[in-house]
Amino acid sequence: MSRLGAQELMMNALRAGVAIPSFNTPYLPVMEPTVRAIVDTQCFAFITVARVEWTKFDAKGIQPVYDEYCKLKDEKYTRLHLDHIPVIDEDNLEVDYLPRIREAIELGYDSVMIDGSRLGLDENIAVVKKVVELAHVSGIPVEAELGAIFGHESGPLPPYEELFESGKGFTDPAEAKKFVEESGVDWLSVAVGNIHGAISAAKKSEKKVEARINIGQLDKIYQEVECPLVLHGGTGIKKNYIMESFKHGISKINIATATRQPYEKLLAETGSVEKAQDAVYAAAVHLIKDELELAGSADIINP
Ligand code: 13P
Repeated sequence: MSRLGAQELMMNALRAGVAIPSFNTPYLPVMEPTVRAIVDTQCFAFITVARVEWTKFDAKGIQPVYDEYCKLKDEKYTRLHLDHIPVIDEDNLEVDYLPRIREAIELGYDSVMIDGSRLGLDENIAVVKKVVELAHVSGIPVEAELGAIFGHESGPLPPYEELFESGKGFTDPAEAKKFVEESGVDWLSVAVGNIHGAISAAKKSEKKVEARINIGQLDKIYQEVECPLVLHGGTGIKKNYIMESFKHGISKINIATATRQPYEKLLAETGSVEKAQDAVYAAAVHLIKDELELAGSADIINP
């Protein structure tokens, strides 16, 4: 059996109307129970890490995450993705993004994300184009973001209903078309009502608001770009919206808060990494089976 790359796997998900969950790694011990949950439910998923997880949490970095992944991976069920490498970070600081992307590609990450969403459209396109040129030489697909997915910033968030009704920051379908055509990006992360779980010390343990998705807007974007779309802020979105989104181009759904919070809670309460890992396993199995209905998806996505 030939080994499918991340692009082919995403296209398989897109064609089948299912999604690949992408599980974040805020702490290295979160990865083992996550991979176990993926394999036990015969789901196909990405393991991933974002820059913010080694700057604000304890993921250690691109190499340590790669090393841990190599110990745990099962390629029938998993691939390794590099999540959010921002050009401008959540504290408005400039990031030297290219060396990070290059490091991940050279190590053997299967796909990468460049996040220029805090830039203007043309600047975002220029940055993504540069990353696409670098990654495609190695046959690695690139994800990029257009629109504002709120939640990671430390400042106050507008009330969710106000945000949803106004469509503030939502990805514009015409801009999305230009963005994908001119940058050559493979997968597009969209803002359509989804928000990230908070990461500031003051708010990271709070329950996320139950987000919704503007399916009409999502569909308009998909009609324009026809490439796999990515749903960030996957924790806590109402289930019927998630299931519907898979029929309108969402081929990857990012999950961080749903496994991070149980880990932090159990570790704080019991002091036991093992008990905290048990909580991650239970949360990931529940999510895959009940919230996303993706148990058994590996046979469709990676036959
Ligand atoms: P949640 O924290 O809402 O699950 O979002 C995760 C995410 O989008 C990481 O890129």
